[in-house]
Amino acid sequence: MASVKVAVRVRPFNERERENDSQLIIQMRGNTTGILNCKANTRDESIRYKEFTFDYSYWSHDEDSENYASQEMVYHDLGTEVVECAFEGYNACVFAYGQTGSGKTFTMMGHQENQGLIPRICKALFDRMSENSKRGTTHKVQVSYLEIYQERVADLLQRHDNNSLKVRQHPTKGPYVEGLTTCLVTNYGHIQNCIDRGNALRTTASTNMNDVSSRSHAIFTITFVQAGYCDGVPSETVSKIHLVDLAGSERADSTGATGKRLKEGAYINKSLVTLGSVISKLAELSTEKK
Ligand SMILES: Nc1ncnc2c1ncn2[C@@H]1O[C@H](COP(=O)(O)OP(=O)(O)OP(=O)(O)O)[C@@H](O)[C@H]1O
Ligand SMILES: [Mg+2]
Repeated sequence: MASVKVAVRVRPFNERERENDSQLIIQMRGNTTGILNCKANTRDESIRYKEFTFDYSYWSHDEDSENYASQEMVYHDLGTEVVECAFEGYNACVFAYGQTGSGKTFTMMGHQENQGLIPRICKALFDRMSENSKRGTTHKVQVSYLEIYQERVADLLQRHDNNSLKVRQHPTKGPYVEGLTTCLVTNYGHIQNCIDRGNALRTTASTNMNDVSSRSHAIFTITFVQAGYCDGVPSETVSKIHLVDLAGSERADSTGATGKRLKEGAYINKSLVTLGSVISKLAELSTEKK
């Protein structure tokens, strides 16, 4: 199992793009994504057109296409592995990263009638737990849901008076958020309820690029404990799944942001740049170790 996988997804044109007769500049073949720079001042295709290979390239631009990638397909490729990892005792994390309006929240959360990765992962977790319970394993599942809005951490499962929680470092468990609500959940309905509560509290706003734009980064964490017997000895395995729906990068002239929206956009971009630096540093360290 690869430790890091990268997938790219193309969404359908939205109303604004259809009205503007926007040109489709992305092509996908297998796991390769091609992009055409139609502003390049040359006719040389080798300069105008570039291809990149990822673990997966998902074509969700038009439902009628034979390559159409549905929510189910994305879950099948990416989500089932997360569930598998959790049962094997590994931690797992899924990030959705990209420009505002590109489809991150749709992929991670989806809609009631077309669910995304988060509800599907939760459902599979509980389905598999009920199977394993028959074999004598007991489970405990806890969830927390937070957002980082303008560099302040807020609890999405319960509104606090002072909605700015502190991030601290635990000597053995690593970073944690002090005072963050954790809910013990015993079935899928219960976890769905936590997701819905959190989504209702999440900060969103309308911009020119997205009617329901996430203005914060959201982290949904599932702590999953399995207790049973290993060679007759009681044993416990703990794994954590972090499911992250980031706010999208944006250009003030495209979003039409002014005032509060502009300030939000500046915080979003700044934190995404920092995240990029952290990921590069981690990648550097991991290649140095090899
Ligand atoms: N694969 C898809 N199929 C159908 N509709 C999609 C798809 N991806 C996104 N959309 C639609 O596009 C719009 C923007 O998507 P979404 O809100 O997920 O973007 P986002 O990346 O989360 O943006 P932001 O960074 O502003 O939060 C939504 O109306 C969503 O339903
Ligand atoms: Mg979003």
